[in-house]
Amino acid sequence: MTVPLRADPTMVKVALGDRSYDIVIGRGLIASLGARIAALRPRAQAAIITDEHVARLHLSAVEAALTAAGVAASRITVPAGEGSKSFRVFEQTAEAIIAARMERGDLIVALGGGVVGDLAGFVASAVRRGLDYVQVPTTLLAQVDSSVGGKTAINSAHGKNLVGAFHQPILVVADTATLDTLPPREFRAGYAEVAKYALLGDATFFAWLETNWRDVFAGGPAREHAIAVSCRAKAAIVARDERETGERALLNLGHTFGHALEAACGFSDQLLHGEAVAAGIALAFGFSARQGLIPAAEAARAIRHLAEVGLPTTPKDISGGLPDVDRLMDLIVQDKKVKRGTPTFILVRGIGAAFVENGVDQDDVRAFLSEKLAAK
Ligand SMILES: NC(=O)c1ccc[n+]([C@@H]2O[C@H](COP(=O)([O-])OP(=O)(O)OC[C@H]3O[C@@H](n4cnc5c(N)ncnc54)[C@H](O)[C@@H]3O)[C@@H](O)[C@H]2O)c1
Ligand SMILES: [Zn+2]
Repeated sequence: MTVPLRADPTMVKVALGDRSYDIVIGRGLIASLGARIAALRPRAQAAIITDEHVARLHLSAVEAALTAAGVAASRITVPAGEGSKSFRVFEQTAEAIIAARMERGDLIVALGGGVVGDLAGFVASAVRRGLDYVQVPTTLLAQVDSSVGGKTAINSAHGKNLVGAFHQPILVVADTATLDTLPPREFRAGYAEVAKYALLGDATFFAWLETNWRDVFAGGPAREHAIAVSCRAKAAIVARDERETGERALLNLGHTFGHALEAACGFSDQLLHGEAVAAGIALAFGFSARQGLIPAAEAARAIRHLAEVGLPTTPKDISGGLPDVDRLMDLIVQDKKVKRGTPTFILVRGIGAAFVENGVDQDDVRAFLSEKLAAK
């Protein structure tokens, strides 16, 4: 890496007893990856799992860092995209890990976005009944969300993330310089998850984002700050509710509506996950206002920020066709966050004041969505 190693990367701890780990955030951190791994697991060999795009851009820097620290490493490159979260790629990757003679005590390095992180984490959870792994997230979404918290999964023909495990990494190294090569649309989509943390629980952070979002997009200290605040928010919730028996569900703000929109678009480039989440958050705020839970002006303020950064906030912002309200309601009820036929919604009493609601009247949701779709 040509970026100098910062002397003072930001550290966020995920406190989970003897499975606690650090998230290290800063520019140029890949250069220190080998030394960090060697310090945590002396003598371990590593297998790097990455995708084709990331391999081209960042793999040589990672390999150089491991070599410099005396960490032997093999590499497995999977196709880029959601399709790699499949049984087939899982099988190929697991077989490659075994063929590389990875044993208990060795570790996997997940170098990439959420797809690579989810796949590599699940492979790590399963091969030899559990290998250690290190997350090196290279998308904004992965740096603030998917690399933290230990949810790993691949997709089933029945839906996304239906086959997986809770398996915590032993370290997360978020090199913010890797985001310089990320397509702007992907960066913006990841920003929806940053805004999510602010909107679900931190009004002060939201006000900061309103003022500073351009600097977050530009890079530099503001970007690092936004990532650190997001990771701290997620780490605190995960530490209190690792297995999502309660509070962790707040992290799904925007995701019940969002997943339905994402599924309606066939999980395609028509609508990226973060874009669906932004629209979903806007719908959650709009619905909360319609139910009289939050003042309309406050909901409008939240939605305005998402729109200002260029994220979709209404069905009419989504290009291409969307299904009718019946299909959307079906998709909402099919979502895995449904308990005994009742979808869980994360609603809001204010900016930074989200709560879990299991008793939403589906007719109210249907009426609300009908209005939104009619406005398209
Ligand atoms: N485990 C969790 O808690 C969790 C949370 C949220 C999302 N997810 C999962 O994350 C996945 C989405 O992750 P994502 O948005 O990172 O998608 P992704 O991994 O597909 O990455 C998006 C695209 O950017 C490319 N890319 C990655 N890093 C790059 C870089 N630095 N420069 C240039 N290109 C780069 C990738 O090759 C890919 O084409 C979904 O499968 C979702 O289910 C998991
Ligand atoms: Zn998400």
